[in-house]
Amino acid sequence: MTDLVVRRLLVDMEAPIPRHWCGGDAFRTALFNALSMSFPVGEQFFIDSVRNGFKELPPDQQAKFKEEVQGFVGQEATHRRLHSLYNAHLEKLGLVNHWEPRARGRLKLMEGVNVRHWLGITAANEHFTAILADWMLQNSDLLGNQDVRLKTLWLWHSAEESEHKSTAFDLYQALGGSHEWRLKWMRRITSVFLIDTLRQTVNNLHHDGTLWKWSTWKSGASYLFGKRGLVRQTYRPWRDYFRPDFHPNQHDSTASQRWLVDNRAQFTPVGA
Ligand SMILES: [Fe+2]
Ligand SMILES: [Fe+2]
Repeated sequence: MTDLVVRRLLVDMEAPIPRHWCGGDAFRTALFNALSMSFPVGEQFFIDSVRNGFKELPPDQQAKFKEEVQGFVGQEATHRRLHSLYNAHLEKLGLVNHWEPRARGRLKLMEGVNVRHWLGITAANEHFTAILADWMLQNSDLLGNQDVRLKTLWLWHSAEESEHKSTAFDLYQALGGSHEWRLKWMRRITSVFLIDTLRQTVNNLHHDGTLWKWSTWKSGASYLFGKRGLVRQTYRPWRDYFRPDFHPNQHDSTASQRWLVDNRAQFTPVGA
């Protein structure tokens, strides 16, 4: 079981967001803004999956998972709240969130579906966020220093994603979720996630007026496929999920632990 601390991040989300807050780079900014747009609806779904999955457990298993589930829900609820404030600034910058209504439409189809499927979807998404988080923590300089507050927000979120990466996975296993469906959901989520990310990033660039600039895509190509590229470096950890004996804890979490120790001054633990 993982000890999950809920933290109140000491950042001011009132101040507006600079147009190219991420290293002054249009592509990177558009990509992270796109991801932020998906979080409020996505993280609510993860919370519901974990809560509902927990309710289905036998009492002895519930006792085992109780604190971890509380920590997971508290962390995701805090992420949702801060990303909603973040997204309100994006709206003021003229960006339009198309991802959220699309995701809401898809989630309607999940009503009445067995909770193991909810958890299969959540575990796949949590694997995605965990590998992205770890990559971000290891390449934090690429976030730039244009807006230190947003840099802190992304790294705090990353550290906590890495911290709670096994909660949905363990619940899925505890409820007898099959290996076959775990992989099926990962394949589906991979294409949905990549298509949604690309669509919203392109749309953000369109509203930003930088979609057709050569510099945007040159930077994008190096950010995704260069030596330290996001796709290049997360491909292997993504693929690990397909191994029959895979468990999220097999992936190293020291970058997350280190960030949380080095940045203690940036948050206060809730209820401590
Ligand atoms: Fe989160
Ligand atoms: Fe998460």
